[in-house]
Amino acid sequence: MPKSELSRNRSSLGHKLRYALRYPGRIPRYLRRAARDNWLGLRHRDHVAYYRAVMAADTGRSPERAVGSGSEERWLALGQMQFDYLVEHGLKPQDRMLEIGCGNLRAGWRFIGYLDPGRYYGIDISPDILLEAQHTIVQRGLQDRLPHLALVENLTLDFLPSGWFTVVHAHSLFSHSPLEVIDECLAHVGRVLAPGGFFDFTYDRTEGTEHQVLREDFYYRTETLLSLAERHGLIARFMDDWERRPHGQSKIRVTHAAAV
Ligand SMILES: C[S@@+](CC[C@H](N)C(=O)[O-])C[C@H]1O[C@@H](n2cnc3c(N)ncnc32)[C@H](O)[C@@H]1O
Repeated sequence: MPKSELSRNRSSLGHKLRYALRYPGRIPRYLRRAARDNWLGLRHRDHVAYYRAVMAADTGRSPERAVGSGSEERWLALGQMQFDYLVEHGLKPQDRMLEIGCGNLRAGWRFIGYLDPGRYYGIDISPDILLEAQHTIVQRGLQDRLPHLALVENLTLDFLPSGWFTVVHAHSLFSHSPLEVIDECLAHVGRVLAPGGFFDFTYDRTEGTEHQVLREDFYYRTETLLSLAERHGLIARFMDDWERRPHGQSKIRVTHAAAV
């Protein structure tokens, strides 16, 4: 991504005005979204409750759009990209995978088909998108792979076994999460991570001021996330090879300190 884009503050008035002049056709959609988000924000002070309401509204219109893909083609391509990356990084059918913020299984259906039965566990805060995830399992004929899907209200992961998951994956989750949600996840993920396992997550990277747009999209500096993981006794590193993919977000890999 060009340097100028990485330091851009999308929440600043200057950026909004420049963007509006460049894409006037997008203004009505932005205003509708801002009004909707303000209304939901007033009704739900807690971020998880608020985002669950955003997902309910978005999923009702289009499950593909709700997870960030404008078309089925993009939905398939984004899932393929996530799947290919992990396979290139050694994902095996015997791995035990936890996908945090699994959505409607954009990548999950590929993991479910690849992993041995019962080895995929997807969690999400949105009941609406989890029902769509079940539809994906039916559409793809994956019932015999026995995937687990669970609704969660936080990321303490307390109902999951210790040291169990060899791969934990969160794609486009922290790009929609305030720092306290990321902190909660990093505080608990080490407990469920098997020795030698890893946790990969994507995030919207800024090299300028950290900021958020419409309480939905959050931009973090890499150092913030690396040091947060380290504060929880984990090792974290920036994944350079992910940058070559045609995807706007960056990726960090977290492991137990002893694994390095
Ligand atoms: C942009 S979608 C991405 C879904 C999936 N990872 C993918 O790549 O298709 C983000 C998902 O994370 C879920 N989510 C948001 N905040 C969450 C949280 N704190 N805990 C668990 N899931 C969350 C949303 O409900 C949504 O399904």
